[in-house]
Amino acid sequence: MRLTAQERQMLGGGEGAAVQKAMRIVVALAEIYEAQELVPVASAQVAGVSYKNLGDAGLEFLEDWAAPQIGCPTRRPSRPDGEGARVRVPAFMNPAGMDLERWQEMGIQPEFARQQQRVVRSLSSMGVVPTCTCTPYLVGYAPRAGEHLAWSESSAVSYANSVLGAYTNREGGPSALAAAIVGRTGAYGLHLTRNRQATHVVKVACGLNNEADFGALGYWVGKQIMDGVPFFQLGQSGRQSRPRQEQLMALGAAMAASGAVALYHIEGVTPEAGQAVPDGAKLPALAIPDLTEAYCELNSALDEVDFVSIGCPHSTLGDIERVAAMLDGKQVRATLWVTTSRHVCAVAQKHGWVARIEAAGGKVFADTCLVVAPVEEIGFRAMATNSAKAAFYGPAHSGLQRRFGTTEQCVAAAITGRWTGTTGDASPK
Ligand code: F3S
Repeated sequence: MRLTAQERQMLGGGEGAAVQKAMRIVVALAEIYEAQELVPVASAQVAGVSYKNLGDAGLEFLEDWAAPQIGCPTRRPSRPDGEGARVRVPAFMNPAGMDLERWQEMGIQPEFARQQQRVVRSLSSMGVVPTCTCTPYLVGYAPRAGEHLAWSESSAVSYANSVLGAYTNREGGPSALAAAIVGRTGAYGLHLTRNRQATHVVKVACGLNNEADFGALGYWVGKQIMDGVPFFQLGQSGRQSRPRQEQLMALGAAMAASGAVALYHIEGVTPEAGQAVPDGAKLPALAIPDLTEAYCELNSALDEVDFVSIGCPHSTLGDIERVAAMLDGKQVRATLWVTTSRHVCAVAQKHGWVARIEAAGGKVFADTCLVVAPVEEIGFRAMATNSAKAAFYGPAHSGLQRRFGTTEQCVAAAITGRWTGTTGDASPK
C-alpha cells in the first residue's frame, strides 16, 4: 500500500505514540481490505460511546488513549503519562447510555452514570464533540456530496452515503476514532466509486404511507440482501411525492439493522441513483407486493405495553412537534420516551413542544436511545415503537417484547397502556 511521507512518519511514531497507535489501526484495516492508499476524511462519527456497550475494558482503552489528566484518579493508568491523543478533523459522538443531564429521571444507577461520564470526558479530551447523536447531519455536521468520511453508526452511515452522497464505510468505534486522530482512512469499500453501484433492484408495489412502512420495507430488504446495494423503484407504490426525511432515515436504519446495507439508491430521489445501474446490467430483482410478513416478524403477540419509544434514529423537530400535538390534553399510562439530540431538544424546547409532551407525562431525553441505554436494568418489559430498527434490536439488546407500528399507534399505546393498532398499512395497491 502506498503511504505518503507524512503517513509513514505517523506510522513510525514521529508524531507520538497516540498517533502511531491510531495509524497502526487505520493501516491494518486498510491492508485487510486490500486498499491501495489512504484517503483524507472530512469528519468522523465515533460510535461505542455507551458504557453499556463499552464496559470497563472499553473505558480503560479510551482513557489510555486520551490525555493523562482525565483518567480516573483512583485508577493507575496502564501508561503512566497517558498518550494524549487529539483528533485532527471534526469528530462527534454517537449516543451515550443516558441523558447526560437528566439520567436520574431515566432511572439510571449512579455507578453507571459515573462510568458513562468518564467515557464522555475521555472522548471530549481528545476533541470529539459530545453531540451524542446518530443524526449528526441534523445538528450542523451534514457532509457534502463526494466527501470521504469515517462514520460508524449504521443509520448515520446509510444516510450520509445514500441521501447526502458522501463516501463512508461503516467504521467500528475504535477505527473511526483512529481515523479522526490521523485524518485518514483506507480507500476501500464505499470509498471507491465502483463499489457504489446497485447489486439488486427492488420493485415496490405496496403503499408506503408513513415511517413505519418505510421501516418495515427496510427491515425486509435488509434481511434479503444483507450487505448489497439496493436500487428501489417506488413507481408502483402509489407515491407521488418524494419520501420525507424521516422516512428515508427509517428505511436506511432498518436495512442496516436487519442486514448490513450501508448504501441504497431510490430512483429519481437519491443523488447517485442516475448512475447506480450500469447500462444493460441485469441485476437480481426483489419484488415487494406487501409488507405483511415484515410487520408480522416485528410484532410480538402482546397487548399490554409498559414502555413506548420514539426516536430511533434520533427524532427530528418535525417528529417532536407531531408527538406534542398528539398528546395535547392527554395523559400517558405507559412510560414514553422521545429520544433526540441535545441540539434538536433545545430547539424543540424553545417551541414549547417538549413542555407539551412532558405535561402529558412523557419524557424527551437527549444524548441516548433505548438500544444503547440499560433499559433492561430499568425494568421495562414490553415496548411499542415506530422504529423497525428498535423493534429488531429490542429483544436481543434490551430483553424487550415489542410492538411496531406508526407514531400514532405508539402514542395511543402510551396513553392507554395497550396496543390496539393494526400492524400498519401493508395492503397491496
Ligand atoms: Fe440511533 Fe440508537 Fe437508533 S443510535 S439509530 S437511536 S439504536
